[in-house]
Order: sequence, then C-alpha cells, then structure tokens
Amino acid sequence: MTKPVFSLDGRSLITPQSVSDHLFPRNGAQIADLVQTAAAEFAIIINVATQRLSSNQNRADAVKWLITQLHEVRLKYGPAVWQELAPMIRSHSSAEILQQCPFTKWSFDKPRGYSGDATLIDFIYRHPAISEELAKTTPLGRDIFEYTINAPGPVAVRERRNILADFVDDTATRVGPDTEILAIAAGHLREAEMSKALLEHRLKRWVALDQDPISIGTIATQYRKTCVEPIDGSVRGLLAKRQQIGQFDLIYAAGLYDYLSEKVAIRLTQVCIEMLKPGGTFLFANFSDEMADDGYMESYMNWELLQRSEADMWRIANSTARADTVDASVWYGHNRNIIYTTIEKKS
Ligand SMILES: C[S@@+](CC[C@H](N)C(=O)[O-])C[C@H]1O[C@@H](n2cnc3c(N)ncnc32)[C@H](O)[C@@H]1O
Repeated sequence: MTKPVFSLDGRSLITPQSVSDHLFPRNGAQIADLVQTAAAEFAIIINVATQRLSSNQNRADAVKWLITQLHEVRLKYGPAVWQELAPMIRSHSSAEILQQCPFTKWSFDKPRGYSGDATLIDFIYRHPAISEELAKTTPLGRDIFEYTINAPGPVAVRERRNILADFVDDTATRVGPDTEILAIAAGHLREAEMSKALLEHRLKRWVALDQDPISIGTIATQYRKTCVEPIDGSVRGLLAKRQQIGQFDLIYAAGLYDYLSEKVAIRLTQVCIEMLKPGGTFLFANFSDEMADDGYMESYMNWELLQRSEADMWRIANSTARADTVDASVWYGHNRNIIYTTIEKKS
C-alpha cells in the first residue's frame, strides 16, 4: 500500500492556508486589483459565451467552453479572488440565461434549503422523477441542460451510482443471505434500482439513512415490502451514537464527505469502522481536486463542495487506522472527478 506524500498543488479551495498564502497574495489591495482584472476577464468570457448561446448553434459546445473558462479563471486567480468573483457571476445578467437549465436553477434555488439535495442528483441521473421539471424547461434551457448534466462532474456521479450498486452486489455474493448494508446520506437511494442483489432478494437489510424527511419518505414509498429500511437520521446522530442501528457488512457514504470538514470526516469514519462487522468494508466518495466543473458550480449553481486530493483522502484513512483494520485504498473513478476510499476490517 503506497501512501503518497502530501501534494503542494495549491489548486483547491481547501488547500491549507499556508500553501495558498504562498501562492496567492493575501494583501487586501492586491486582491482588490486582481478581482477587478478577473472581473474584466469574466466580462470577455461571458460576452463570447452569450453570443454563442444566442446563435442557436451548438449550444452544448458553448456551455462546455464556458464551464472550462470558469474553471481556468478559478484556478488562475486563486481562492481569495474567486470568493469575490463567484457572487458577482451569480448576480450577472447571464445568470438568467444559464438558470434556464433546470439543473442549474434547482441548485441555485435550493428548494430543500440546502445544496446537493436528492432531487438535484436526480437531474444528473435523468431519473423519471424529474420529468415534470424538465417539461417546464425552455428550448434554450434544455440545450444548456444537455451539456451541464454531461459535464465531467455529473458523468462521474453516474459512474459513482454504478460503483455503489456493484459494491452492494459483491458484498451480497461474498456474505450471503445475512448481508446488511448501510447507506449514509442515502438521498433517494437510486443505486438500489441497479442492484441485482436487491432484486433477487439476496440481502437481509439495506438501511438508508438521511437527514431529509422528504427523501426518506420517497425511499419508504418506493421500497415498501423490500428489505430497505429508511431512517430519518443525521451524521450528528451517528457521531453521538444516538442511532443504534446494528452492525453492517458494507457501509458507504456518497455525496456527503464533500460537505464535511476533515475533523468531522475523521470522526465519522471512525464511527463507521466501529459499525462494521468483521470482514466488512467502509467506502466514502468525494469530489476530487481534479474536478473540472467547479467554477460553474460555485458561481451559477451556488453549489460549493470541499474537493479532496489523494493526500486528503489518505489523511482521513490513516488517522482512522486501527488494529482491527487491515487495508485501505484510495482510487479514482474513470475521469478522476471523484475519488474513493475503501477501508476493510479484519475478518
Ligand atoms: C448529494 S446527495 C447524495 C445522495 C446519494 N447518496 C447519491 O449518491 O445519489 C446528499 C444527501 O446527503 C444528505 N445529507 C447531507 N448532510 C447530511 C447529514 N449531516 N446527515 C445525514 N444526511 C445528510 C442530504 O439530505 C442529501 O440527501
């Protein structure tokens, strides 16, 4: 098991302060100057993008170009400047165009009161549940949506869903009919629609925990009469050990660690390892610091995520290593926009 040394890349918003201080100016006047320069650069970019979008030809390409440009600007000017620029972009008149995309608008409006709710992810899955929202979309919004949900981040999220279903199915094959699974921050548990083990009744129980009662209600309706057990619960409850839900062969969290500070991520990982049966696996996923859609997401979508590097993932895995854990690995999905950690407990 090779453990990479901490990489001083300075590329992400969660890079330690010491690194970004070194690479980017902290002085207020310098930052203000740079914000002006970055705003001027954005003005040129958005001018070109809106012309291309209004031309009615190859709008998906125009959105792709805009997303790439915003990523580059974010990277080039660094966190302090980007934090000033992102709200300016959000309140720019172009937001009215981009937010015709139902996925972008849902994220910006936050109908559930927080970022990254399960319905937002349903847009990425193109789940039938969002067909009513899609039906209300303008032709321009639909064209923009065709690219936004096929950008590298959403592609990685769809792959993540397949990976989760495969882990569940592999666990069922390994363990047999006593298989117990726990999904933390389950959302709508859409990976269950792809699980052969669930379809073939090869699981004892699949506990789906989420803090949003509407998501829990959706799971309860869709999976009544199955072994899926929806639980209205939170990370806080798990950490406080208020939820006594037993021991599991597989525990996973996807779309959650992206919002957790390192301290909470480490604590949650420790608690999850305690809840594993011998031979069990804990998996958590995080958007990686190589993700390409961050500028668009943080500006027009007002969707901020904590991106993590390989070294960040290892730090969490290493600080939770115990005498009864045998192995940890950190690996990327196909397009490297999502990074995964798996930790196994001794049999
Ligand atoms: C991005 S969605 C991910 C859904 C699903 N895991 C997936 O991969 O499609 C994030 C989910 O995390 C849940 N969540 C966020 N913070 C949470 C917390 N502190 N405790 C429990 N659930 C939480 C939200 O309610 C939401 O359903």
